[in-house]
Amino acid sequence: MNFFELIKSRRSIRKFSPQSISRDLIEKIIESGAYAPSACNIQGWRFVVVDEPLLKEKIFDLGGSAIIRSAPVVILVFYDNRTTNTEYADYIQSAAAAMQNMLLAAAELGLGACWVAHLPRKKDLRKLFNSPKYFEPIAAMLLGFKDGSPDTAMPRKFALAKIVGYNAFADIAEKTGAPDNLFLKRLARKIYYRLPGGPKKLLNNFIDKNFVKKFKN
Ligand SMILES: Cc1cc2nc3c(=O)[nH]c(=O)nc-3n(C[C@H](O)[C@H](O)[C@H](O)COP(=O)(O)O)c2cc1C
Repeated sequence: MNFFELIKSRRSIRKFSPQSISRDLIEKIIESGAYAPSACNIQGWRFVVVDEPLLKEKIFDLGGSAIIRSAPVVILVFYDNRTTNTEYADYIQSAAAAMQNMLLAAAELGLGACWVAHLPRKKDLRKLFNSPKYFEPIAAMLLGFKDGSPDTAMPRKFALAKIVGYNAFADIAEKTGAPDNLFLKRLARKIYYRLPGGPKKLLNNFIDKNFVKKFKN
């Protein structure tokens, strides 16, 4: 498969077989992440590989996505947020570049992966992993062998002509996939994080079931 075919056939995988993954493979993927560009070449990432079931359960208990429990490996990406670029949060961009490299590396190796930002509150993750305050949890990547999941990519929602503008902003009238009722949905998320364990878990399982249904895997 050539590079462009790989990009177009990659898709998020949320169902995994319990088969474990060798550290060689995990490190190959993380190394691909560490070869991403980073703002000012700071390379301020830290990768936390979680394969202990109890630790995954703890991340779920704190409000992280329910699918975290079913992935053999979860790679949390932290990044040093001491940037001078206060306008563009370039540390998040650098971490995202690493994430994307890792997703593509996993696809190249025939593994399933999913980018997850449904994670516990940052202060809780920092506490769990004893990370200094200036390391910010950015995202997690689930990793594992696919469990009979489909290989076909999710169709793209918008034709190029709608999203590309030459010397001008592309079609302003065209909607993006951003949710309606943004204010209420943001409020709901804030409340979710403050719920006690039991109701949070219930809601969390429900959210993820819907995700898996919506994205058909
Ligand atoms: C920043 C970011 C955050 C995401 N967070 C989640 C998540 O919390 N849970 C999840 O199931 N998928 C998550 N995804 C995966 C998206 O749902 C997925 O990329 C999207 O539906 C398109 O599908 P595809 O990756 O198969 O092309 C996330 C993706 C990105 C880029």
